[in-house]
Amino acid sequence: MFHLPVRTFAGIVNFAQCDAMGSEFDRSFRFGSASETAALAAALAPVLRPGDAILLQGGLGSGKTHFARALIQTRLAEAGRFEEVPSPTFTLVQVYSDGTTELWHVDLYRLQGADDVAELGLESAFDNAVCLLEWPDRLGSLAPKDALNLHLEMTDTPGERLVRATSSDSKWTHRFLQVAPESPDG
Ligand SMILES: Nc1ncnc2c1ncn2[C@@H]1O[C@H](COP(=O)(O)OP(=O)(O)O)[C@@H](O)[C@H]1O
Ligand SMILES: [Mg+2]
Repeated sequence: MFHLPVRTFAGIVNFAQCDAMGSEFDRSFRFGSASETAALAAALAPVLRPGDAILLQGGLGSGKTHFARALIQTRLAEAGRFEEVPSPTFTLVQVYSDGTTELWHVDLYRLQGADDVAELGLESAFDNAVCLLEWPDRLGSLAPKDALNLHLEMTDTPGERLVRATSSDSKWTHRFLQVAPESPDG
């Protein structure tokens, strides 16, 4: 069991773009450094299954790539592998394999329209791979409904990030039970 610095901050922060209405799963984290954000990614890495998708939302520099890199490298390390995990800003998609499961790291910032999504082969990846997507708003209605939405926000404090995890699928409650116990204050 991993122990993360889990603290609630509902009511303190206004997540302007985060619509948690109807969420089956809704957890918030405050991370004080890049390594704390990476710790959540590392804790989630072993519990992800083919067909799981994480939609990484947040502005430039909020830590989307940092989170994805930590998750992928943890997963590869468990398989005895190491690879650099560059930002897929220009390639749009980078695919890794841990020996049994493909890990798709996707950055849709430069995507022109939802038509291009089909060309990337994302729909089959959503079924068969673990997918980590930056700028998922570009997906429109193609975004997987059972994905974990991870909203990262910078604060005025250097190194601090507020992270809200929501999903309309309760499977994430079970995934997170394995990585971060409920915080006593909510
Ligand atoms: N708590 C934190 N969580 C994530 N990244 C952080 C944190 N504090 C500082 N950083 C730094 O912020 C930068 C985030 O960059 P990146 O992950 O490329 O952002 P994005 O992909 O969201 O544009 C990295 O240099 C990372 O080291
Ligand atoms: Mg990025």
